Amino acid sequence: MSNLKSVTSDIRLFKPSKSFCDIANINSIILDSLNNEAKMDYPLFWANLAKKHIHWHQPFTKILNEDNPPFFKWFEDGVLNVSYNCLDRHLVNNANKTAIISESDSGIIEKVSYKELYSKVSVFANALKSIGITKGDTVIIYMPHSIEAIVAMQACARIGAIHSVVFGGFSSKALAERVIDANAKIVITTDGQKRGGKIIPLKNEVDIAIDMLPHDNPIQHVIVYKKISYEKLKWDKPRDIWWHELIKNKSDICPVTEVDSEHPLFILYTSGSTGSPKGVQHSSGGYLLGSIMTMQWVFDNKPNDVFWCTADVGWITGHTYVCYGPLAVGATQVVFEGVPTYPAPDRFWQIIQNHKVSVFYTAPTAIRTLIKLGYDLPQKYDLSTLRLLGSVGEPINPEAWLWYYETIGNKSCPIVDTWWQTETGCHMLSPIPGVTNLKAGSCTQAIPGIMIDIIDESGKILGNNDNGYLVITKPFPSQIRTIWNNPKRYEDAYYPKDIGDGKYYIAGDFAHKDKDGYFWILGRVDDVLNVSGHRLGTMEIESALALNPIVAEAAVVGRPHDIKGEAICAFVVCRGERPTGAKAKDIESELREWIGNQIGAIAKPDEIRFGDNLPKTRSGKIMRRLLRSIAKGVEITQDISTLENPASLEQLKQVN
Ligand code: WTA
Repeated sequence: MSNLKSVTSDIRLFKPSKSFCDIANINSIILDSLNNEAKMDYPLFWANLAKKHIHWHQPFTKILNEDNPPFFKWFEDGVLNVSYNCLDRHLVNNANKTAIISESDSGIIEKVSYKELYSKVSVFANALKSIGITKGDTVIIYMPHSIEAIVAMQACARIGAIHSVVFGGFSSKALAERVIDANAKIVITTDGQKRGGKIIPLKNEVDIAIDMLPHDNPIQHVIVYKKISYEKLKWDKPRDIWWHELIKNKSDICPVTEVDSEHPLFILYTSGSTGSPKGVQHSSGGYLLGSIMTMQWVFDNKPNDVFWCTADVGWITGHTYVCYGPLAVGATQVVFEGVPTYPAPDRFWQIIQNHKVSVFYTAPTAIRTLIKLGYDLPQKYDLSTLRLLGSVGEPINPEAWLWYYETIGNKSCPIVDTWWQTETGCHMLSPIPGVTNLKAGSCTQAIPGIMIDIIDESGKILGNNDNGYLVITKPFPSQIRTIWNNPKRYEDAYYPKDIGDGKYYIAGDFAHKDKDGYFWILGRVDDVLNVSGHRLGTMEIESALALNPIVAEAAVVGRPHDIKGEAICAFVVCRGERPTGAKAKDIESELREWIGNQIGAIAKPDEIRFGDNLPKTRSGKIMRRLLRSIAKGVEITQDISTLENPASLEQLKQVN
């Protein structure tokens, strides 16, 4: 790689403004002392925070149990309830504070105070109890991003039931697989939802899913919230129950079920590089602690903030930074059901203006889409209430970062680029906004108490100025406890013997650590290419492409090559019209030259194809495996039911 001019070496430091630092929760003195405490005794460090920030019904005396690694236990003899921590404890001082400002796809706004949310959750928890749901039962939630989805999740937590939220964009087949794996007793859904103006009949999908199951399937009931009065609803009595009928005459007081700290709070399925989706199992106490501390440290939570995380509750980001974190710290948050481009690509900016959002957390994909569709649109809106911006889900290319920083944040809001995973439960690498000097495109350093390094294949810990596997070297409270029903898969996938000798949590990402010890995520390990013996992060090439003014978005994958091992194939969306014919050829060679100049000749794509869109899941992740199949010219065999824009595939199959 020595002959490559790394994109990541283009470094300019962005310092937080004095006005931000003056009131930040964490200044450099506090950060140093947190880091020192964690370095000296990290279990004790977390234990002190857990005592201070969580309401325990019975305090813990044991901190970290490492008897059976990697099955770690935190605060195991402590007893708590997560819903109590999110709701009941705010009733004393903040009962009338707005907990949720919900905005529907069509613009209907509903505000709910902590007291009202507490009542809704209690009523629904009593309703669940009335149909026999008790501690340890599993419940599938297949609902749109909404107050009711949060109520359902919190109600499960309240009675010790374990929820598994399935994103509303997943197909009935995916839903059926999850119902079976989780052995769920009930499914909670809605008759349908409106998203981007389109009607999605969710309950129909549930019917189809249940039809796919064996006759002795575990489902006893389907609870249906009437959201859009969908007319073509099928009804299976007595299996199907209306939410509004079930909650009739239920008390709005529901004492919480006290659970052990290690009691599973939820399962969330996520894709691995192989096999069926994995049911990532999280704990109660440790997960809650991670959610709370990152709300305070990373999002610098303040009583008057209006927090908005755009992620759907169907993903981990929506679990930690919609359902649990903001409520646990008593924040006011926006919950928006729709998409950023409907009815027009100014929807986000409108919402920020209307609800006076101060902390805004979204994904690079959304940012890049909005750059493409409305570069100047934000200027029409008053975004002056913003004080902090966040990014999550994928590496953010420096160009998008700068636009976010300048156009949305008016050069005065720090950007917290947060690296984490479904499995880590909360942020792991992130700037601390009042302290860290930012570099566009880097998620900077580990938060206090999290020990992160990069290692080589032999397991050796690498220093600065190197690339390696990203690993977490010590257990941490918010981490995955196991894969539901499959502890061996948990061990094999995250603590593999062949990398790091089973000692470290292997994140599956490849990262660069620069001269200042800042981390740059280069992509998934399986997205790292090896071209003529040189390792190349697909992200590095994508970032370089995105720096070109004609490029709106790019994805890069490898395909087998007889001589070089792997060849690079780039899929590009241009600003404006999709080039074809001679024009496409010209732009292709221009971009190859560009990459040659940006990184080095070795990184020049062998092929560049153009489309109006890149294939993405509904959560906005580029479907790289699909692109790899297209690049290879092989038939697409993977499930494309969650694809947002299937039509884009045909264009990308065309060679210029
Ligand atoms: C990627 C989402 C770069 C990474 C919270 C990780 C990121 C995977 C970032 C987890 C970031 C997430 N910069 N890459 N800030 N955040 N990733 O489980 O590859 O949906 O392993 O969790 O997303 O995705 P997941």
